[in-house]
Amino acid sequence: MSAVEIVDKPVLRDRDTSMVLDETPLFGVAGSPGTRLLAGPAQSMGAESLDSHVRRLGAVDTIRTTPQALRDTVRASGLMGRGGAGFPTATKFDLAASAPGTPIVVVNASEGEPASAKDRTLLELRPHLILDGADLAAAAVGANEIVIYLHRAHLRSNAALEQALAERRGAKMDTAHIRLIDAPARYVAGETSAVVSYLGGHGAIPRRGAKPAAQVGIANRPTVVNNAETLAHLALVARFGASWFAQVGTPEAPGSTLITLAGSVVSPGQVVEVLGPVTIGQVLERVGGLDAVPRAILLGGYAGTWIDGETAWRTPLDRHGLKAHGMSLGCGLVAVLHDEVCGLAETARLVAWLAGESSGQCGSCVFGLPVLSGFIDDIIAGRSRRGDVRRLREHAASVRGRGACGHPTGVVTLVESALETFTPELARHLRGEVCESHDGLDHFPLPLSPKPRP
Ligand SMILES: Cc1cc2nc3c(=O)[nH]c(=O)nc-3n(C[C@H](O)[C@H](O)[C@H](O)COP(=O)(O)O)c2cc1C
Ligand code: SF4
Repeated sequence: MSAVEIVDKPVLRDRDTSMVLDETPLFGVAGSPGTRLLAGPAQSMGAESLDSHVRRLGAVDTIRTTPQALRDTVRASGLMGRGGAGFPTATKFDLAASAPGTPIVVVNASEGEPASAKDRTLLELRPHLILDGADLAAAAVGANEIVIYLHRAHLRSNAALEQALAERRGAKMDTAHIRLIDAPARYVAGETSAVVSYLGGHGAIPRRGAKPAAQVGIANRPTVVNNAETLAHLALVARFGASWFAQVGTPEAPGSTLITLAGSVVSPGQVVEVLGPVTIGQVLERVGGLDAVPRAILLGGYAGTWIDGETAWRTPLDRHGLKAHGMSLGCGLVAVLHDEVCGLAETARLVAWLAGESSGQCGSCVFGLPVLSGFIDDIIAGRSRRGDVRRLREHAASVRGRGACGHPTGVVTLVESALETFTPELARHLRGEVCESHDGLDHFPLPLSPKPRP
């Protein structure tokens, strides 16, 4: 990573959306040379047809390989989940294959993170890659059923999926039975145990089971829940092999990865495939159209980490390297704060929304998150009292790690990183100052109205 040449003062050159060092592409958008998941037709061409997909990549053959050989290849590739937690895919497969009962595969394409667009873009442009991956996952674990868990508001990607399934039915391609299920439009509905609960006929509520879903999931059957991008990688690993996969990325986090640019960029929702050592600044300059270092970016999702712009600009987009610095690439969101928007006010918006997304079953989450939200609201309204920041920090620390899922910890990460990143803004608010109206400026998107609990 240290070999990256860092641009000190970014200058907007031609809006070239790929970058090549020593013949190796470092990142690109759909159709850019050297990309992997996004290779093929340009974004404007829409969904790649089955004919084009097979002509370009060849068909996958799940018949002539054994489940064990497939799982061995996945293990050798080092593929880790792209849904946020980075769990080794092969471990999940091994658990499901050796557990009692016939496994089910779930393609998690629900993408509940409001500003993330990588899964829906992949589904919209390369649906057959995801469907190949689902077939391969089913073959690897001996599943006879695939559930595709969707976000019903993502109309274009859902239409592309329906079309792709019709093409495959016409070509008599798929072996396992496939069902499409709409996920409830809630932030936590995409968490693995919530997915399993919902598909088992209950609410989309996270549960802390004694055994992982890969062993005991829907109707007590082993259930492999994989993110849509993870499965698309699997489609390429099965075709081109483990060593090919690991030729990009890093030894600790092999393979390419998709990120979504959001917030104050030229094209919010633009998805970029990162293939090599590249900094956040390089991608924001080339693809995001930024001509100056922003005040801050939010990395990894709304329950992610704020990083001040100068630091972010030089930070490599490397899952493993970020982890070593206490950050996470999460779902791959890189959201740029508008220069005239106060980062604490933006944090207050996000925390209020995230607090309302609790599934309502753990006290530390149900009661703890609104308290966090209240502290920040008081700060930005200039009405906090002496000692409130200390109390806020103590409260945040007491919520971290609590609850049956990672939701409260994610919100704490957001809040704590905001306090670190926006210290001048914090000082102003503690003096009683309030921000000018932010109306009309680019805010991070939030779903429109509160919805009933799942
Ligand atoms: C609160 C919360 C929400 C999540 N939402 C999603 C989601 O919308 N889509 C997704 O793929 N993973 C989501 N995840 C991550 C999943 O739990 C899970 O790790 C992922 O689907 C597993 O696939 P992977 O191993 O391929 O990453 C969420 C996790 C948490 C804690
Ligand atoms: S921690 Fe919050 S979101 Fe997670 S299960 Fe408990 S109440 Fe639901």
